[in-house]
Amino acid sequence: MCGIFGITGTVTDAADNVFVGLKNLEYRGYDSWGVALRSHEGIEITKQVGKISDGELATSLAHEAVGHSRWATHGGVTLENSHPHRVGNVVVVHNGIFENYLEYKTKLEDTIEFKSETDSEVIAALIYLELQKGVSPEEALTTAVQNIEGRFAILVMFDDTPGIWAVRRGSPLILGRGDEQTFIASDIPAFLEKTNVVNYLDDNQMAYLYNTDVDFWDLHTGEKITKRNIEVEWDFESADKGEHPHFMIKEILEQKETIARAINQERDQVDEFIKALKKAGGIYIIGCGTAHKAAMATEYFFAQIAGKKVNVVAASEMDAFKTFVRANTAIVCISQSGETADIMEVVEYAESVDATVLSITNVASSSLARASKVALPVKVGPEKAVASTKATTGQMTIGFLLAHAYADTFNKGLGILLGAAANINDMINPRYEEHIESVAQEFKDNENLFIIGRGSLYPMALEAAIKIQEVSYIHAQGFAAGELKHGPIALIEKGTPCIVLGDDQETISNAIELKSRGAVIIGISTGEHEVFDHWLRVPDAEMAQPLVSVIPIQILAYHFALLRGHDPDMPRNLAKSVTVK
Ligand code: M6R
Repeated sequence: MCGIFGITGTVTDAADNVFVGLKNLEYRGYDSWGVALRSHEGIEITKQVGKISDGELATSLAHEAVGHSRWATHGGVTLENSHPHRVGNVVVVHNGIFENYLEYKTKLEDTIEFKSETDSEVIAALIYLELQKGVSPEEALTTAVQNIEGRFAILVMFDDTPGIWAVRRGSPLILGRGDEQTFIASDIPAFLEKTNVVNYLDDNQMAYLYNTDVDFWDLHTGEKITKRNIEVEWDFESADKGEHPHFMIKEILEQKETIARAINQERDQVDEFIKALKKAGGIYIIGCGTAHKAAMATEYFFAQIAGKKVNVVAASEMDAFKTFVRANTAIVCISQSGETADIMEVVEYAESVDATVLSITNVASSSLARASKVALPVKVGPEKAVASTKATTGQMTIGFLLAHAYADTFNKGLGILLGAAANINDMINPRYEEHIESVAQEFKDNENLFIIGRGSLYPMALEAAIKIQEVSYIHAQGFAAGELKHGPIALIEKGTPCIVLGDDQETISNAIELKSRGAVIIGISTGEHEVFDHWLRVPDAEMAQPLVSVIPIQILAYHFALLRGHDPDMPRNLAKSVTVK
């Protein structure tokens, strides 16, 4: 969480470009923002509470600037806690968590007058105190960061030394190489308008940017290293909202094409992936939040299509299962961003025991993709809304394809997915959206909503709950259809809205049980049924049904958010990329 962005160069619009580029990192956190620029008078800092997209930065000429968009971890959403933080002549922006910061803060309280409640200010203090010993900036940084436990990325400016210093351990940092400016950011969209030529900073590496020159060091050996320039494929256009009011609806509608894009995998990559799975003594599929639900759907695909049992675990729960991860284990990581901290911790553990890391990720340049033996790209383009939509269906598309590849029925799987993609294209149209909006209108004031599904639609019931919760703040809960009568049915009262995924006989029986206790039933299925008070039709996608059934729920969640007056792109308390544990 938090976006950091720095620019050095031979031209003087660094601060303006940081301000503009930082808006493309706002999805990483939008509690407050700040920019530090180097002027003739020294380093000037501007900070504001609130979203950077609502902020203003007075134009100032500067060759160098750093900026930060915050998702609050340590300390409330206040100006004092906003970045950049200054201690003496050291200015820092920080993404990540300094887990043991209190130990140092307590020790230093007599020496340093801390102004914020953040862990980040303690990093600035540690660097400052090292500098007081008369060492160089790189020595001060190298020593100071040794004290930090946790995952982080920092950018540092010094009053008396030009240039920007960057250190990475666990949180992403990518350099962009322009003709007149060099960029360093938590994610590529910050500078994609300017350049698509990048260098990846790896863990325990440091960079020094000055004008358009960059030096890299390995923090362990202290030696200088060289980096290969890599051209990334994303174009800037696709990271833009275009004519749509929000990224969320833009990304939902893009599913008319994105399923087809996700299908388009390199066959030899898929074969290599399957080879690694077949060789493995055990398979774990991990993910967080929505990606975990895509992993659960993939578990059903493997069971139903390939007759193969795989273990699906939320990445944050993998600790208990680590003992089963050995050199012959395959860990399949599903992640839109490829930077989620809970996943990267498992990846690091897997690497330490020589297990095979495989991934399905939308960001082909991410830390996860780079750590994987085979990384299948989801190919749906940048997903900017906090609520995952097109990446989810893209991930499930690949999960489905893999299950068929495992079963040696790749072409059959391809055919089903191509059919689903064509049907989704027909399904998503303005009339369909209007119909869903009218359903949202009827239930927008309800504080509770339940969703049930059976088989591979059960994970979609859980996913539906996440989607509705995160953007509308309605208390939505998903259940396996058959589980309701074992307890949750006690929650049903007259008028409680219940979404029923599927129209198979058993699920319909469960819907009837709900209705006879007063529930209002919204059916999402291929066929209509008299128990439904409202019906959202979805095309028949055979075993790939989760892919199509989740889409009306995404649209419903979006309209709930609008009707309840919330910003669906930037819901409260959330950030797109969860890079802290
Ligand atoms: O980038 P990742 O796919 O690893 O992110 C995982 C979750 O944080 C993410 O899916 C989250 O649950 C979304 N906000 C759901 O819409």
